[in-house]
Amino acid sequence: MAPTIRRIAVAAAFLAMAAVPAALAQAPAPAATPSGPPNVTAILEKAGQYTTFIRLMKSTQQDTQLNSQLNNSFNGNGYTVFAPTDNAFNNLKPGTLNSLTQQQQVSLVQGHVLPQFYTFDSFETASNPVRTQASGRDGPYTLNITANTNNQLNVSTGVVDVTVNNALSAVKPLAVYSVDKVLLPFELFGAKAPAAAPTASEGKPKKGGSSAAASGPAGSDDSAPTGAASARAVGWSIAGLAAVLGYLL
Ligand SMILES: *[C@@H]1O[C@H](CO)[C@@H](O)[C@H](O)[C@H]1NC(C)=O
Ligand SMILES: *[C@@H]1O[C@H](CO)[C@@H](O)[C@H](O)[C@H]1NC(C)=O
Ligand SMILES: *[C@@H]1O[C@H](CO)[C@@H](O)[C@H](O)[C@H]1NC(C)=O
Ligand SMILES: *[C@@H]1O[C@H](CO)[C@@H](O)[C@H](O)[C@H]1NC(C)=O
Repeated sequence: MAPTIRRIAVAAAFLAMAAVPAALAQAPAPAATPSGPPNVTAILEKAGQYTTFIRLMKSTQQDTQLNSQLNNSFNGNGYTVFAPTDNAFNNLKPGTLNSLTQQQQVSLVQGHVLPQFYTFDSFETASNPVRTQASGRDGPYTLNITANTNNQLNVSTGVVDVTVNNALSAVKPLAVYSVDKVLLPFELFGAKAPAAAPTASEGKPKKGGSSAAASGPAGSDDSAPTGAASARAVGWSIAGLAAVLGYLL
């Protein structure tokens, strides 16, 4: 049994590594220092034109959260961030951000983050709908992502559609793609979204950096999926299992 598991883990690691060169061909040189973990804030600062998203990540503590997750070797799947430009935020209806509670702003930011590293090419292996980091508190928050024939991605929340063609960085464990629209989650802005703020999780302690694993694909946020959410989680579970096996061996 152990050799089989090892083979699975090795195969998973090989597949993950095999995906990297394709991304390197498309992505500019990584903005992060080669030593140490990648720093999403530094990548966005270097690229410029992401000041609103940086500010929103700071005010929701998602910058330190993500950076600490990136510095946690247990999170072997890596992360993908869709970073809206300042223009994207300027094009929102006035007051859109201010109409959100703090918790909803956290969900908005996390709705731009996938708990998995994707190159342009490896998005083809993603099965829609793809769960974002915002999933778990009040159900799954998802994106539909499809590669189109021009080597671009179409990303849809169900409320917002955007085409992605610019990688700011795509070096495992962190891929950052520029988007020129804010990915307003269907769960907050769709027709049936409740007007009231989700408050169920407010008693849940948010420990910022130290609770990195809690938001990972195998974390407690995914522990009680039901029905369709459970089916959606299968893809993540397989990837998570491979990562865990790889970690244990
Ligand atoms: C990430 O980069 C930002 C901006 O350069 C910096 O302020 C912050 O301290 C860095 N965080 C880590 C964990 O290195
Ligand atoms: C990454 O984690 C290690 C071990 O916990 C720690 O010593 C180091 O300072 C961290 N690096 C950053 C940039 O946060
Ligand atoms: C991607 O989006 C563009 C623009 O909205 C659309 O014309 C095209 O059909 C979409 N392609 C796919 C594969 O969804
Ligand atoms: C996302 O993809 C799933 C599966 O293909 C589909 O059932 C669903 O309608 C799509 N949602 C949107 C908003 O495109």
